[in-house]
Amino acid sequence: MNPSGPTQPSDEHDPSRHNLDPHLDRYAARTAGMTASEIRALFAVASRPEVVSLAGGMPNLTALPLESLAAQMSDLIREEGLTGLQYGSAQGVPALREQICEIMALEGISAHPDDVVVTVGSQMGLDMVTRLFCDPGDVVLAEGPSYVGAIGSFTAYQAEIEHVAMDDDGLVPEHLREALARTEREGKRVKFLYTIPNFHNPAGVTLAVNRRSEILEICRQHGVLVIEDNPYGLLDFNGNIYPALRASDPDNVVYLGSFSKTFASGLRVGWVLAPHAVREKLVLASESATLCPPTLNQLVVSRYLSSHDWMGQIKTFRENYRERRDAILGALEQHMPPGCSWTHPSGGFYVWLTVPEGVDAKAMLPRAVTARVAYASGTGFYANAGGSSQMRLSYCYPTPERLREGVRRLAGVLESEIELVHTFGTVHARTSSGPDTPSPDTA
Ligand SMILES: Cc1ncc(COP(=O)(O)O)c(C=O)c1O
Repeated sequence: MNPSGPTQPSDEHDPSRHNLDPHLDRYAARTAGMTASEIRALFAVASRPEVVSLAGGMPNLTALPLESLAAQMSDLIREEGLTGLQYGSAQGVPALREQICEIMALEGISAHPDDVVVTVGSQMGLDMVTRLFCDPGDVVLAEGPSYVGAIGSFTAYQAEIEHVAMDDDGLVPEHLREALARTEREGKRVKFLYTIPNFHNPAGVTLAVNRRSEILEICRQHGVLVIEDNPYGLLDFNGNIYPALRASDPDNVVYLGSFSKTFASGLRVGWVLAPHAVREKLVLASESATLCPPTLNQLVVSRYLSSHDWMGQIKTFRENYRERRDAILGALEQHMPPGCSWTHPSGGFYVWLTVPEGVDAKAMLPRAVTARVAYASGTGFYANAGGSSQMRLSYCYPTPERLREGVRRLAGVLESEIELVHTFGTVHARTSSGPDTPSPDTA
């Protein structure tokens, strides 16, 4: 990871740095926070077929009905090609915005299509919301750990990230109060709380329903906006659908949604539901970023929603993910050495594993890859130095057999690591200096 940038002149007189990048002195100050993942190089190795990758968060699309989608797309081009291949409205296709409102109604949200802005994935929503609300030095509160792509956006806009701890029931209201009191004492301005209430990425936990109104109340009292990021909300393994935060506080919650986990991530279609007053600014921000989201992709999603049993498809996805969740939890139970603990997700893609004190999960990664298993080290999910004894295990993509084998290999590496720690104490110096930049594979 190279943390240097134009605002950090420590190596200013080192001529070799200009050989690396002749534009180094030209970059805007905000690029100092944009750092490439030091584990990215490992992904080239991790994606070899013999390595079981528990690192990537790619949805498993194998259950999609490709034949009928192909026919549908061909009909679409024939029937609506001149619309789909043309520029469209910056806010998004009206019919799709109506369908999005019907989907959100499942979570108790009552919304008007006028307040929905279609985005290029919810990642773009995150970028726009941060652009609209954060000046350099503003504070954003986010769960610790938090989604790597959100940390990347906040850092790119030079916001300070304060993490708020979670437990098995998600964000802890008491810790939120403390974080707000602390930042206020320090004279800092908190712009929003960023939260992933359901099947958290990376922690795998869900915010208890009885905490939801308390968290909204705390934020209202402190004049802090809530950004609710909910791409996994329909992926509960028992078919539960939790009430959205936005459902009970439409004026103080910006809701981010996505079709990436419930349909197809490659189409890059997501949305923002904003309080009415914010909607106009979001449309302007979207216009300046992309002019308009891809019309054809929006029409594909819209047709899919109106002509497929999309809820049935989500049920199939859930069953696939539940089978994988059961496989990974069973294998962790069977193989993990004493002193390890992990979360028990009831939906979504991720398990968060904590390893015994002294084991450095980031330093261990190359050894794990040598043993043909990869994971995402916990440090990438914190803006500060947290997460060194944690890792995210994604169970969404590999087959159950591969998951079991991956966990068995990981347990072997951990056992050797724990033995080393017992013999020598903590032997691995950490070098982390910032968040890992998101990539499709780490997201
Ligand atoms: C919590 C969270 N938010 C946002 C995103 C981005 O999703 P999209 O594909 O809609 O941009 C992801 C992707 O992994 C995610 O896990």
